Amino acid sequence: MPKNQEYDFIVVSNRLPVDRIIDVDGEPTWRRSPGGLVTALEPVMREADGAWVGWAGKADLELPPSTEDGIHIVPVALSALEVEHYYEGFSNDTLWPLYHDVISPPAFHREWWESYRAVNRRFAEASAAIAAPNATVWVQDYQLQLVPAMLRELRPDLTIGFFNHIPFPPYGIYSQLPWRRQIVEGLLGADVIGFQRVADAGNFSRAVRRLFGYATKSPEIRVPLEGGGHRTVVAKAFPISIDVESFEQMARRPEIIERARQIREDLGNPTTIMLGVDRLDYTKGIGHRLKAYGELLSSGSITVGDSILVQVASPSRERVEAYMQLRDEIELTVGRLNGDYATISHGAIAYLHHGYPREEMVALYLAADVMLVTALRDGMNLVAKEYVACRHDEDGVLVLSEFAGAADELKNALLVNPHDIEGLKESMMQAVVMPKRERGSRMRALRRRLRDNDVSHWSHTFLETLEGAARKAR
Ligand code: G6P
Repeated sequence: MPKNQEYDFIVVSNRLPVDRIIDVDGEPTWRRSPGGLVTALEPVMREADGAWVGWAGKADLELPPSTEDGIHIVPVALSALEVEHYYEGFSNDTLWPLYHDVISPPAFHREWWESYRAVNRRFAEASAAIAAPNATVWVQDYQLQLVPAMLRELRPDLTIGFFNHIPFPPYGIYSQLPWRRQIVEGLLGADVIGFQRVADAGNFSRAVRRLFGYATKSPEIRVPLEGGGHRTVVAKAFPISIDVESFEQMARRPEIIERARQIREDLGNPTTIMLGVDRLDYTKGIGHRLKAYGELLSSGSITVGDSILVQVASPSRERVEAYMQLRDEIELTVGRLNGDYATISHGAIAYLHHGYPREEMVALYLAADVMLVTALRDGMNLVAKEYVACRHDEDGVLVLSEFAGAADELKNALLVNPHDIEGLKESMMQAVVMPKRERGSRMRALRRRLRDNDVSHWSHTFLETLEGAARKAR
């Protein structure tokens, strides 16, 4: 067997940047994966010429390493049972709801935990096998929290970073997890643990103190070593971002601008287009948004024909019960609102249960007068940043939940508490009637802030911190 190729830089995430799918002609092919993580890391990977270790998105698929769209990928196989227990179960029905303020009740099952451990080990082994001596390995997100410690055990020479793309919950919630010590131990295998918000890093350090009593002095945690002495682990906020330039450039393309005009026309040239773009997930507050929108219609504050809400809800985790229920609830509400308020010529809500290519999303952002991001809890929310990046015309109003990580930076948005339906309605109306001058000044301020921290700033800051921490540790 040929010796594995070795890489100096490796990204490890549950999902590869591309999913294996079967195309319309029945041929296997690759398609870009959903979610913010891939959007954020793709440019970093292109720059580094490293390898990306991850799952191809389908059960029981043994695929050799390959290069797709210029990125070296190393697929890790998951059995159907592992997809059920590790991915749908422990990752998305235990950790996801637990880390998002228990909006949906997390389920705790011992066999899911066992599968999580086994799969994390497989990812650690796959990464160890292709890492050059002293390579840097950057592990991503909540699905792989045990990988840092497993990898350190296998390959003490490596520099190991971890970034958590979702919130890290306060100890009162985190402590519900039966395996709370093991997860923290897994993460502490990294040299640097990155979080979206300062609050998340604080929550993690507190969990370390409560569970292990280790000394922490922000951003450092002193982890005692078996033979005496200690290692220093850095736990710090690195708010993630997007490739601002590429979104802006796309939004300036004449055919995209024309597509935005066409979308407006197809919607009947309403005065106000409101837009929501989310994975269909209970953390996103889509129901709260629909409730507020419905009440505005009911009170006559807005009318169909004059306003429309376009809601893109991309399919997600469709075999997890909480997601099936959510879909039923949302689609019932959308059906009711359209039934009550739509006319033959004008809809109340254009509901689209699809994922779209980036070009179409950018055209939608350009067409939308008001962007609604009403998450109940969200690590960052890159949709908010994408909207701002696309609005080179310095127009459009962003209504943004204070419970999204993005609210820490995008303070010139209309910040809302989505649980407060009256407050949400007021902000939506404020957005509808906001004078052009105010829209311009807010959008300019948002765009300045966004340009200060684009995704390459994010990755470079993280990787510099990682390199510094590793140098100190040697
Ligand atoms: C969020 C998570 C990612 C995940 C994405 C899509 O952005 O932070 O880790 O990949 O959602 O979810 P999925 O379960 O389809 O990978």
